[in-house]
Amino acid sequence: MAYFCGRKSNLLSLLGFGLSPHLLNGPILTMLYDSNPTLEGVIKTIDEAKQGSVFFNEQTDHGHTPGVKRFYIESYGCQMNFSDSEIVASILGDIGYAPTRNMEESDLILVNTCSIREKAEETVRKRLKIFAKAKKNRPGLKVGVLGCMAERLKKQWLEEEKLVDLVVGPDAYRDLPNLIGAAEEGGRMVNVLLSREETYADISPVRLDTNGVTAFISIMRGCDNMCSFCVVPFTRGRERSREPFSIVAEARDLFEKGYREVTLLGQNVDSYKWENPETKERADFAGLLEMTAAVHPDLRVRFSTSHPKDMTDKVLHVMAAHENICKYIHLPVQSGNSRILEMMNRTYDRAWYMGRIESIWRILPDAAVSSDIITGFCSETEEEHQETISMVSWAKYCMSYMFSYSERPGTLAARKYADDVPEEVKKRRLSEIIVVQRAVSQTYNEGEIGKTFRVLVERDSSKSDQEFCGRNSQNSMCVFPKKEGIKPGDYVQVKIRAANSATLMGDILDC
Ligand code: 5AD
Ligand code: SF4
Repeated sequence: MAYFCGRKSNLLSLLGFGLSPHLLNGPILTMLYDSNPTLEGVIKTIDEAKQGSVFFNEQTDHGHTPGVKRFYIESYGCQMNFSDSEIVASILGDIGYAPTRNMEESDLILVNTCSIREKAEETVRKRLKIFAKAKKNRPGLKVGVLGCMAERLKKQWLEEEKLVDLVVGPDAYRDLPNLIGAAEEGGRMVNVLLSREETYADISPVRLDTNGVTAFISIMRGCDNMCSFCVVPFTRGRERSREPFSIVAEARDLFEKGYREVTLLGQNVDSYKWENPETKERADFAGLLEMTAAVHPDLRVRFSTSHPKDMTDKVLHVMAAHENICKYIHLPVQSGNSRILEMMNRTYDRAWYMGRIESIWRILPDAAVSSDIITGFCSETEEEHQETISMVSWAKYCMSYMFSYSERPGTLAARKYADDVPEEVKKRRLSEIIVVQRAVSQTYNEGEIGKTFRVLVERDSSKSDQEFCGRNSQNSMCVFPKKEGIKPGDYVQVKIRAANSATLMGDILDC
């Protein structure tokens, strides 16, 4: 189970192209969120609206053209997976496949899967039953499983799920044209090879389901951290960073197309590192942030996710120095207790984590911090759980993604520790944390009443087409009445007049 509480989240003058040299010397940016019927309306399930999103692009939809093959793709899990679906769309576009929102008219159904918790995998299995029915009606239809579940279960898929034609892991998307070709000939294909190099740097993602204002850019892949509860290092492989020029070029291209915000994505952005193979010059995450911020002062830069052990003051100083780097850090604590953190193999303890938060407060006094929290990890006691609760209040998280522990096969925790906290205790602890986080979010948001923020207009608010919504630098979602001449992609000054635990309400000021 997993809940989101609080606000939704949610150059190239560098490196041989004129990057200021001091940046080159130093050490070198989900989640499937299950619904919670008991808390509906109060606690929002994280990105629930996006889970299972069917990716689509209006610009490439030319109606049903006879002879044009169509793919239908559903995506689950973290933002990284949603980004990967855009890479897949680009690769399929090159072989003449166009996206469709309508499963009934597709020649190829793809499901980009998540393994992070058991519930995520169950959701995908249910969807496969629906795809099986579609396939019965249309025998030529092919079905492919992509992403983390493909990687975890490999060819077991072909044995367990007779309808599956393609099983493709996160590092094998370039092979899709071959695999689809062979599947069209009647083969059942698997490619789950993980790579130490693949970053898809040269592939220009097809932006699907876009608001035309905000976009995600993947800057690295994989994870080397081996948190004991986590399946990601096994499904996404070793950490590798994408070369910075292609990242900045992608940001610039987005800006030129009218986008005004990019989020740099990685499992652990602070360990971004890249070395120019010819000049041996190096770039770290602070350098990459600075390069991306230099694209244009009106292009906002965000990033996710930061690991407390790697987040440096250098990054905080770069954030402080650039108005367009958003003052928001997602810094997952996972647990507030040092013994549990050690068992989780997070490589920091409670005191170290608090030290990192204090650095943020010192260097970026107006920054907002959010977190991920797991309740009921192996052997967690009531006292240890209380330490997580106290961390939520102490750190004053603007919001948290909260989960109850779900044992994943093959992880360090599954091999070493008993999953011995009863399910009802995990859930009760989760509810307790949610209550505290909700109060902290409410207090945080009430503290914003009367302040004025620069807000990037994203779209109509979900409740009314008379209102816009957009975020401030701290990532708070602001809702405000529309004003003549203002459109998505514009920056406006919004004065906050009211707040609840998820949203700030305000009015556009005359500039
Ligand atoms: N059980 C519950 N939550 C998990 N997460 C990762 N693995 C598990 C698991 N086995 C959570 C962590 C992580 C977020 C993306 O998902 O909090 O930060
Ligand atoms: Fe999983 Fe830890 Fe890597 Fe995050 S940092 S993806 S929780 S192993």
